[in-house]
This record gives sequence, structure tokens and C-alpha cells, in this order.
Amino acid sequence: MKVLVIGELNVDIILDDFSDSPQIGREVLAEKMNITLGSSSAIFASNLSNLGNHVDFMGGIGNDYFAEVILKSFAKHKVRTQLLTRFPNHPTGATFVLNAGEDRANVTHLGAMAHFSIEQIDLNQLNQYQHLHISSYFFQPKLKKDISTLFRLAKNGGLTTSFDMQWDPLEHWDIDLSEILPYVDIFFPNEAELINATHSQSLEEAINHLRHINYHICAVKQGNKGSTLLHNQSSNHHPGFLNADVVDAIGAGDSFNAGFIHQFIRRHPLDKCQDYASLVAAISTTQIGGTRALEDRQYREEKAIAQFGKALS
Ligand SMILES: Nc1ncnc2c1ncn2[C@@H]1O[C@H](COP(=O)(O)OP(=O)(O)OP(=O)(O)O)[C@@H](O)[C@H]1O
Ligand SMILES: [Mg+2]
Repeated sequence: MKVLVIGELNVDIILDDFSDSPQIGREVLAEKMNITLGSSSAIFASNLSNLGNHVDFMGGIGNDYFAEVILKSFAKHKVRTQLLTRFPNHPTGATFVLNAGEDRANVTHLGAMAHFSIEQIDLNQLNQYQHLHISSYFFQPKLKKDISTLFRLAKNGGLTTSFDMQWDPLEHWDIDLSEILPYVDIFFPNEAELINATHSQSLEEAINHLRHINYHICAVKQGNKGSTLLHNQSSNHHPGFLNADVVDAIGAGDSFNAGFIHQFIRRHPLDKCQDYASLVAAISTTQIGGTRALEDRQYREEKAIAQFGKALS
């Protein structure tokens, strides 16, 4: 199965164990530092590849050390990088993550990802794929306005499509879902994102809003409460496979998307897609980072049965 992912690319520089609270005008020490692939689109692509799919990625990177970090990580997960665009005059995007216990302060520089636009996409390539996934709407300011066009072209070319808009760091939620969702087979917001993007006060109100636009399938991710699948007039809640001892929830949502799409492109029924997605997401919470728990087939299959009592198939 050939899948094309279009999305944001950045590294995370994660700083931990501070000698004091970081403050403007002062310097503190961080006992730990970790540099890793940060983008949610890349975690999705890596895990979809880990599950056994051919995945190509389109997005913008610079010509610098952080670009090499991204390429190395993609090589490890066999995500194809021939279609990445290099912007030699812009740095690769980076997020500085200042961890403080359960909470964190993030500072992101978009760099090259802010310059990636439809001009860098060879539209004739689209029909080589079975599926198109686009992620992180708000992190791609130059691509945003053309996302509905990309989905429309993909649908006209016979591809299935999915969309995870992710969080808006500016919290303006300036997105017209009624323009995009008619060309999207599966929409993957989390609960807070859906409420914000529909300018609602509650999940019920947000679902009601969705029903007034021409959407197809919506999988609402609800953290350790599971997920709710909306389709036609029906709604199916899945409680998830609770991991009471989460090592790290980074990338759980992207892993959920990967599990769902893995089944969806094989034309399995939606309840199977949701169940498999929930299991893949739960497994992802058993290891640090967004991809580690899913990269080794033996680990993920044994973990599925040993911890969650369900075979990953
Ligand atoms: N503690 C947990 N145990 C088991 N499964 C979990 C847990 N937390 C989350 N999940 C699974 O992961 C899915 C996605 O999680 P979440 O709702 O956090 O998505 P998200 O906000 O999009 O995440 P991301 O930060 O990766 O974008 C949930 O729908 C659920 O199935
Ligand atoms: Mg998410």
C-alpha cells in the first residue's frame, strides 16, 4: 500500500531537570537534553511504515544539522524522503521543549516548514498513491489555503484521504472545515481541537456543528478516555486499552491515526479500524517517544497480548 504524507517537519530539543525555573534575564542549568524527531506528521509516517506500508513524505527542511537528524530518523523507519524539499536559506524547524514535571513550556521556530507550499508539490505524483494524509494545518502557513485543493485532487484521482489538523499554537482556530472535510474520508481531531475548531463549548455542540457540514468519518481522540467514531448519524465510543502506567503519551494520537489508516486502506470495517487504532495507540504509550514502541514487530505484538490482552492483527 502506497501512502503519501504531507506535513510539518521539526526536531524537538527536550530539556529536563532544571536547577531552577527558567526565567527571562537569567540562566539555569538543565541536567538532561535529548534531540529527537518532533513532528507529529513524521511520527505518523514512521509508525505507518513500521506497520508495513510504503510511505513517502512531502515537506520542507533546511540544509543543516537538524535536517540530518530528520533524515536519519526517517531512514531508520524506512520512510521515503526523495520528495522532501530543501530550503537552503531557512533553518529546519525546531521546538525547544522545557519540561517541568508533568507540564512543559514549548518554543517553536517554524523555519523551512513555514515556506513549504503547493508550488513544491508535483501534482502529477498524486495518482501514484492509494492514500493521502495531511497533518498539522496550522504549522504550514503557506500550504494551508491549498489543503482543500490537494484533497480534492486526490479524491478525483481515486485516492482515499485523511486529515489531522492538530493544535493551533496561536489559538485563533482560523480554519474552514466545511471547505476541507467534503474531500476527507477520515478526520482525526482530538476532543479539544474539535471543540475549538468548531468554536463550540462542548463535544456535543461540536458534533452537532459537524453534522451540518459534509464530513464523512470523524475519529475524535479522547486521551485515556478512548475515542469516538462519528459516521452518518451514528456515534461509536471505544474505551481504548487503558495503560494505567503510561511511560510517555507523545505521539499516541499519531499512532492512533497510523493504526486506523493501516486497516482502512485494506478496506476493513470501521469498528475494526477503531479497535486496531486504539491498540496501536496504547502500545505507543509503553515506551518513551512517539515511535520506539512500534518499531520492533516482536515487541509490539508481544506487548499487545501481554499488557492489553489482544492480538495486534
Ligand atoms: N493512557 C492511555 N492508555 C491507553 N491508550 C491511550 C492512553 N492515552 C491515550 N490513549 C490512546 O491514544 C489515542 C490518542 O490519544 P490523544 O487523545 O492524546 O490524541 P492526540 O491529542 O491527538 O495526541 P497527540 O499528542 O499525539 O497529537 C486515544 O484515543 C486512546 O485510544
Ligand atoms: Mg494529535
